Amino acid sequence: MARVKFVCGNWKMYKTTGEARELVRALAPLVEGMGGKVQVAVAPPFTALAAVAEALRGTPIDLAAQNVHREAQGAFTGEISAGMLADLGVKHCIVGHSERRQLFGETDEGVREKVVVLFKAGLLPIVCVGETLQEREAGQTLAIVSRQVKSALQGLPSADVGRLTLAYEPVWAIGTGKTATTAQAQEVHAVIRRLLVELAGGVADEVRIQYGGSVKPDNAAELMGQPDVDGALVGGASLKAPDFSRIVKGALR
Ligand code: 13P
Repeated sequence: MARVKFVCGNWKMYKTTGEARELVRALAPLVEGMGGKVQVAVAPPFTALAAVAEALRGTPIDLAAQNVHREAQGAFTGEISAGMLADLGVKHCIVGHSERRQLFGETDEGVREKVVVLFKAGLLPIVCVGETLQEREAGQTLAIVSRQVKSALQGLPSADVGRLTLAYEPVWAIGTGKTATTAQAQEVHAVIRRLLVELAGGVADEVRIQYGGSVKPDNAAELMGQPDVDGALVGGASLKAPDFSRIVKGALR
């Protein structure tokens, strides 16, 4: 079964509601007609989710969130639950982004708890994994990524594993303009795929593994042309409609 490629824009802490609406208005006509051949989503900041949900109506673009709290509800000032996201029409949610791991103390265990709470609320997690430059230089890439994947999947029924998306984002490639080479990306993606087979059997074939880290219009097609690169998680280049739509087109080749 061929996996449908999945390209998601991670807007990070950019775009007011007005700017977000404008971006969707510019983007929607550019990706029209690609629905079905490639899955497209955008992940605005929490404050723009409602406005973007409205603007996406009638378009083939899905709504994603950038984070979620691990508990279903409670006294957690400043946090957002999976149920609240579902209520806004959010379909996917990024968890374990390296910025959250590095700057906000997100742990492997916390990521696993978020995966569980998302599935419970009917949302689909996009789990980010990836090594730092120091870890790559120390030859630890495959060990680190394997640990992160194993931990995120621990205890998960294989039916849920099949509905997961993983995003391999080497930390040294994020926002730096340095992209992993296609060979570097494919090597890690293939290792993740083998690990998924070990952990969950046949459904491993259904799991989309996105690449993220300085994906741009001119490198997207080559990266997504690799056998185990099933899409992209795009930061900076997702903030401009023409660039993001060219990346989405790159998934079709
Ligand atoms: P850039 O595309 O800006 O490098 O960011 C990648 C990323 O972190 C997506 O989640």
